[in-house]
Amino acid sequence: MSGTDLVELAKRRGYFFQGSEAYGGVAGFYVYGPQGAALKRNLEDAWRDRFLTREGHVEIEAPTVMPEAVFEASGHLDGFDDMIVECPECGTSHRADHLVEDATDVEDAESLPTVEVETLIAEHDIACPACGAPLTGVEVSAFNLMFATNIGPGSGAPGYLRPETAQGIFVEFPRLKEYARGKLPFGVGQIGTAYRNEISPRRSLIRVREFTQAELEHFVDPERDEPPLERVADVEVPLYSAPAQEGDGDVETTTIGDAVEAGVIGSPWVAYYLGVATGWYERIGVDMDRFRYRQHLAGERAHYASDCWDAEAELDGNWVEITGFAYRGDYDLSKHGEYADDDFTVFRAYDDPVTVERATVDPDMSVLGPEFGSAAADIADELERLAAADESAFEGESVTVEVDGEEYTVPTDAVGFSVEEVTESGEHITPHVVEPSFGVDRLFYTVLDHALREDEVDGEARSYLDLPAALAPTTVGVLPLMSKDGLDDRARAIVEDLRAAGITVAYDDSGTIGRRYRRQDEVGTPYCVTVDYESLADDTVTLRDRDSTEQVRIPTDALAERIAALRVG
Ligand code: GAP
Repeated sequence: MSGTDLVELAKRRGYFFQGSEAYGGVAGFYVYGPQGAALKRNLEDAWRDRFLTREGHVEIEAPTVMPEAVFEASGHLDGFDDMIVECPECGTSHRADHLVEDATDVEDAESLPTVEVETLIAEHDIACPACGAPLTGVEVSAFNLMFATNIGPGSGAPGYLRPETAQGIFVEFPRLKEYARGKLPFGVGQIGTAYRNEISPRRSLIRVREFTQAELEHFVDPERDEPPLERVADVEVPLYSAPAQEGDGDVETTTIGDAVEAGVIGSPWVAYYLGVATGWYERIGVDMDRFRYRQHLAGERAHYASDCWDAEAELDGNWVEITGFAYRGDYDLSKHGEYADDDFTVFRAYDDPVTVERATVDPDMSVLGPEFGSAAADIADELERLAAADESAFEGESVTVEVDGEEYTVPTDAVGFSVEEVTESGEHITPHVVEPSFGVDRLFYTVLDHALREDEVDGEARSYLDLPAALAPTTVGVLPLMSKDGLDDRARAIVEDLRAAGITVAYDDSGTIGRRYRRQDEVGTPYCVTVDYESLADDTVTLRDRDSTEQVRIPTDALAERIAALRVG
C-alpha cells in the first residue's frame, strides 16, 4: 500500500491530519488525532523506558524559546541553512538541492557548493515545480531554518524557537553537572518540540516545520569512559555505506562487536547505541527488512559530528533518516564555555595527586602603576598568563607583553617571577557527547507504514494495522452483537471494568459486526470482545485476535487479566 493510502487512513481513523484545515491548512504543521496522540505518547514512553530508565539516564524539559546568544554559540545562527531558489515568474520558493536531486542523478546535492547547484539547475533546464517557468540563471542563496521571535515587547531581545532539543540540554550543563555531583559519565534526555522553517515541507510527517525529537545527550570522559559494548556485541545490524538513495544492494549485516573490531563503526559509543536501538526498533514494529544504518560520508556530517550514522527506514520506495547517532565530541560544551559566562567543564580527579612546578608572577605595582598608568592591571594579568604558558619569557632582563594591541616592556625585576611546586589532585576537562537523536514523527510514520497490511477475510479485502499490542492506541474494542436485549448494557459494564483495570477501550455498536471488526482492524486495535446472547446465558464473551481473526470464548471475569497479559506479550 502506498503513502497516499496511509495518509488517507490516518485522516479517516484519527491518526494525523494537516493543521488549521478550516483555514486552508498550513504546510508543515500536523495535528495528531485521538488515535495518533495516543500512539505517539506510547512511542515516547517506550523510548523513555529503553533509552533513559533502563540506561540510568535522567530527563529534563527545557524551554523551546532561547535567546540569540545560544544559537551564536551553537553555530545555528551562522550555519543552519538550506539552499533556496525563488521562481522569478511566480515567486514560490524551493529547496535548490531537492530540485537538483529530483531532476538529476545527483544523490546528495545538499553537500555541494552553491555555485555547483546553480550550474546543475541551468544545465538540466530545471523548471519551477509550481508554475513550470525555467529556473535557468536564478540565484541559489542560503536560508536560515530557525524561526525568529522577540522575547518580550520590542525588538531588543531576539530569540529563536529551538531547532533541536539538544541545545536545551547543553546550555543547562552547568546545573546538570551539579545534579550529577560532577561525575561522568551521565546522560540527559529530552522529548520535546523542535522547529525548523523548512523551505519545502513534504511527505506529510516526514518533513515538517514543527516536530518532536527524543534526544539523549550522554556526557562522557573521552579518556576514561567506555561503553558496555559486551551487552550489544552480538546484536546484528544492517550496515550500509553509500549515499542515501543509491540502490540497496550492498547492505552488510554484521554484529556490533565485529563492526567495532573492524573499525567500520568509528566510535564505540555510537556502536553501543546502534546496538541498543536495533532491538528497540524491532520491538516497536519497524520492519527490519526495510531498515538499515547508514554512515554519513565525510562531506555530509554536521559541523559538530566526528562520526555519524543514520537509522534509515524504507518508506514508499525511499530511504528516510529516522534517527541520527552522532559523536559530537566536545564541540557543544566548548562553544558554550567560550560564549557563556559559566563553567562547562568537569573536574577529573587523578588517581594519585601529582606534584608539578608552577610559574607565577607577583608584579610590583609600585613600579607598574607609575610606569604604565591605567594599563598596569591588564599588564599584570597578561604577565600571569604568560608565566603559565612560557616560563622562558622571563629569562632575560625584561619581558614584553601585548595589551589591547600595544606592546609593554617590563623589567623582569619588577615582575616577581617564581616557580613553586604545587600538588594537583586533578584537572578540568570538557566532556564529550554521544547523541542518539530520534525524530518521533518520522518514527511514528514508519511504525504506521510498516504496520499497514492487506489480506482477505471471509472473501473480502481488509486493511489493518499490525501494531504491537503494547503500542496500539486502543487495546480492545468492545462490541455488543446487537444494541438491544441487554447486550449493550452488558457490553458497557465490561467497558467500565476494563477501563478500571487501566485498559484502553473503544465501545462500538454502529453497523454490522463485520464492519465494526474492520474499523478496529484498520485502527490497529489488537483485540475485540464481542458480547452475544450466549454471554447473557453463561457470562462468557468472545475475544478476537486482530491479525489471525481467530476467536476464543472466555469467562467475562477473566477478560481483564487475559488482555493485560496478551498486551505485554
Ligand atoms: N540534535 C541533532 C539533530 O537535530 P538532525 O539529524 O537534524 O539532528 C534528528 O535531526 C532527527 O530529527 C532526524 O533523524 C529526523 O528524524 C528528525 N527531523 C529533523 N528534521 C525534521 C523535519 N523537518 N521534520 C520531521 N522530522 C525531522
